[in-house]
Amino acid sequence: MQSTSLKLLLVVSLGFLQSGDTLRGDVTYYSGWNHGWGSCGLDISMENQFYVLALGMKYMTLPENETNTHNHPLCGPNACAKIYGERGTVVLKISDTCGGCLDDNIDVADTVFPMLDDPIKGVVPMDWEFVDCSVDPPGKKTAKSEFFLDLHLSRKIIYN
Ligand SMILES: *[C@@H]1O[C@H](CO)[C@@H](O)[C@H](O)[C@H]1NC(C)=O
Repeated sequence: MQSTSLKLLLVVSLGFLQSGDTLRGDVTYYSGWNHGWGSCGLDISMENQFYVLALGMKYMTLPENETNTHNHPLCGPNACAKIYGERGTVVLKISDTCGGCLDDNIDVADTVFPMLDDPIKGVVPMDWEFVDCSVDPPGKKTAKSEFFLDLHLSRKIIYN
């Protein structure tokens, strides 16, 4: 049941996704995400920590005349976000709405937050951007320095 206006919105939002603007917001985390499918109602087979990302109402407000939160354009299969933490970078599938997140603040899974920063801090401002999941799929991204460290270690193992 996809109306023409929804298709149009999807095209508009994908164009917007490719803009590559770096955003900045407070990143928080939540638990209990594995018991529900979020406002996007993603398929249970997608239910893993990299498919847990809640954006605030700035982004998740429903288009005019749309009543089903599952049909929000940012619930679409290509709508992901890349988050840059002190500890590492992750790409997450947008799947949920964070009612308490103002502006560009976002909420991630409690098991993903430690990949970004120390969870003791609770709330950490980070840079993030919209990315296309078909180009940059959900998961933990290897930082350049980690890659070279891995390479160095594996060379040591091979040559020593
Ligand atoms: C929303 O619904 C109203 C009433 O049916 C209609 O007049 C309006 O054009 C609709 N807006 C969109 C964006 O489809």
